[in-house]
Amino acid sequence: MKRDLVSIEDLSNDDVLALLDRADEMAAHLRERAHLLRDTILATLFLEPSTRTRLSFEAAMHRLGGRVITSADPASSSTSKGETLMDTIRMVDGYADVIVLRHAAAGAALVAAGVADAPVINAGDGGREHPTQTLVDLFTLRRERGRLPGLTVLLYGDLRYGRTTHSLARALARFGGRVLALAEPGLELPDYVIEGLGEIPGVEVASVELDGVSAALRRPRLSTLIAPGAAAFEGRRVVLEAGELDAIYATRIQRERLPQSSRGAPELPRIDAAFLASPATRSSVVMHPLPRVTEIDVGIDADPRAAYFRQAAAGVPVRMAVLAAAMGDLRLASVGSRRREANPADLPRGVRCAEPACISTREPAATPPRFRRSAAGTVRCLYCENAAVQESV
Ligand code: NCD
Repeated sequence: MKRDLVSIEDLSNDDVLALLDRADEMAAHLRERAHLLRDTILATLFLEPSTRTRLSFEAAMHRLGGRVITSADPASSSTSKGETLMDTIRMVDGYADVIVLRHAAAGAALVAAGVADAPVINAGDGGREHPTQTLVDLFTLRRERGRLPGLTVLLYGDLRYGRTTHSLARALARFGGRVLALAEPGLELPDYVIEGLGEIPGVEVASVELDGVSAALRRPRLSTLIAPGAAAFEGRRVVLEAGELDAIYATRIQRERLPQSSRGAPELPRIDAAFLASPATRSSVVMHPLPRVTEIDVGIDADPRAAYFRQAAAGVPVRMAVLAAAMGDLRLASVGSRRREANPADLPRGVRCAEPACISTREPAATPPRFRRSAAGTVRCLYCENAAVQESV
């Protein structure tokens, strides 16, 4: 059975821990693993801009002794000639043993995993998920905080169009963490992420007003609390105690994915020295998947709590572990995507996906819409997770 990594949900908690342990070992012996994937070819297919993710995957493959072929410029790939993702993947599948895909459309990696014989690793599909970044984030959190379970983490920035926090919020909640999601109006976590978080056993979601980090963020903000027992805080003000926040995870506004009308939205308030001086953030590490724009002040780069460049460097050992697992060198308990398509007989007539950034709306001939039914009963697009809409007659 081939091992794709499309969503963080493809990995059990034990799998995550096995990958992080393997990444620790890779980090300690970075230069001694050049035999593991000898003669294996990785294709990095990046149909959306990237620096870190592509280079760290490629560095990881070189460190494992494998070879890399790449297509990194959407404008120079056949996609610009109108080739469908499905055709591109069928072809790359003939050239490589493992495929790392980044694509602007939500659900692209799921489509690719369905057509390729080679394992497909999702390196970001539109605004949906970025599971290997989450492994990098968890690896960094465990190193910086000395543990993974039960962490209190503030997610800050563009939580709607940024994909990294979608995978990370789930992983943190699954490890019993308390996640505070703080976003400007219009940039809150999408409802499918919130619904999915509420389906994790023991996890509750509540809307709260957050205080205790106001030095940088100026005023209490409406926020989402995701934690065991969160419901008890619904509508209340949550004040972070001194030293309570283990980490703050900032993201940039994903302007390339914003609707045209909001592309000029103002920059986010900056995380700066004043923020790190507030009691709640006394021992917080500051993380960011990068690239940063203005949301983290360069003045804190030298602060020992600024972990974002250490986090970026962790991309290599973590992706070495991911590639080793994809090629069967590390046995994981769970296999492949767990998303189950709804029985068509169970679906209302005339539903469609209305999300313009979904692969099924961008390439409907190659990828006709498919749906699933969530535990809460919502009919959701299998590819982008947005709620299906009723076709107007
Ligand atoms: C992120 C991404 O591409 O989703 N970058 C990354 O992979 N490290 C975040 C971003 O682009 O803002």
